[in-house]
Amino acid sequence: MKRTLIMFLFFGLAIPTFAQESETAPISQGDMLLIVLILVLIVALLILVIGMYVISIVRIILLEDKKQKAEAEGKVFDPSSEKSWWQKFQRSATDAVPIEKEETIMLDHDYDGIHELDNHLPPWWKWLFYGGIAWGIVYMLVYHVFDALPLQEEEYAIEMAAAKSAREELMASEGNNIDENTVEFSEEAEVLAKGKIIYDRDCAVCHAPEGQGLIGPNFTDNYWLHGGGIKDVFHTIKYGVPEKGMIPWQSKLSPSDIRDVASYVLTFVGTTPKNPPAPKGPEGEEYKPEAE
Ligand code: HEC
Repeated sequence: MKRTLIMFLFFGLAIPTFAQESETAPISQGDMLLIVLILVLIVALLILVIGMYVISIVRIILLEDKKQKAEAEGKVFDPSSEKSWWQKFQRSATDAVPIEKEETIMLDHDYDGIHELDNHLPPWWKWLFYGGIAWGIVYMLVYHVFDALPLQEEEYAIEMAAAKSAREELMASEGNNIDENTVEFSEEAEVLAKGKIIYDRDCAVCHAPEGQGLIGPNFTDNYWLHGGGIKDVFHTIKYGVPEKGMIPWQSKLSPSDIRDVASYVLTFVGTTPKNPPAPKGPEGEEYKPEAE
C-alpha cells in the first residue's frame, strides 16, 4: 500500500518538473491539456486507491461488529460466510455454481471421464449482448432514421471542407495568396535562396543548373517563348506548357514558392554560364518590359 502511494506521489511530482523544464519553450495548448488530463487521472487513481482502502477498513470494522453481536446472542459467527462486495459482484456477474454444488448441474455425458456442466450463460456476457442490441437500435435511430449525426462519409466530407478552408486561411495569412496578377519580382536574398533550392531540385534537370537550357529553353538571354516579365514567368511556371513538356507546378509548389523560383529564374538573364559554356540559343521573342 505504502509503495503504491509513494509511486503515485512520485509521478505526481515528476509531471510538474516536466512542465518546468519546458517552460523555456512555450507549452502548446495541446500539451497543457495533456498535462492537466494526466494530473486529473493521477488524482482520480489516488482517490480510487484511498477509497478502496477505506472500504476494506470499514468492512473489517463491520465484521468485528457482527461478530460481537453474534457472540452477545450466543451464536457462532463464521466470517467466511460473509461475502465481500467484490465476491458478491463476481457471483452475480458469472452466475457460477460453487464447486461444492457442481453435481447438481452435471450432465449425463461422460467422455473418457470428462463431464459437462450445465452452467448458465455468464450474465456479464448476456449484458454485453443485450447492450449491443440496445446500442444497435440507438445507432440506427440516430444515424439512419433521424439523421441526427453525420455518417462516416459525410464526416469525411465535412472534415475535408474544414481542412480546405483552414488551408485557404493559412495561405492568405502567409502571403501565399499571390497569383499571376499580383506577383512582384523580389530581390531579397531569402527569396532568391529559396528560389534556388526549388530550382535546383525541380527545374535544373530540364533547364540546366545555370539556366543555360537543356530540354527546356535557356533563361540567360532576353528571348522568351511566353514572355519575360515576372508575371509571365509566374504564369508559365504555374500553369506550365504541358503539350511542350513543361509541367504545371501549381499543385506541387505554393504560390510563394512559385514567386521565389520565378524571381530566381529572372536572375539568370544576362549571365554567362560556365558549365556547359554555350547557352542554348535564343528561343522566342526578345522581351521588352515597356511592351507590358
Ligand atoms: C520535364 C522538363 C521540365 C521541367 C522539370 C521544367 N521545365 Fe520549364 N520548360 C520545359 C520546356 C520543354 C519548356 C518550353 C515550353 C514551350 O516550348 O512552350 C519550358 C518552359 C519554361 C519557361 C518558359 C520559358 C520561355 O521561354 O518562355 C519557364 C519560365 C520555365 N520553363 C520555368 C521552369 C521552372 C521554374 C521549373 C521548375 C519549377 C521548370 N521550368 C521545370 C521543360 C521543363
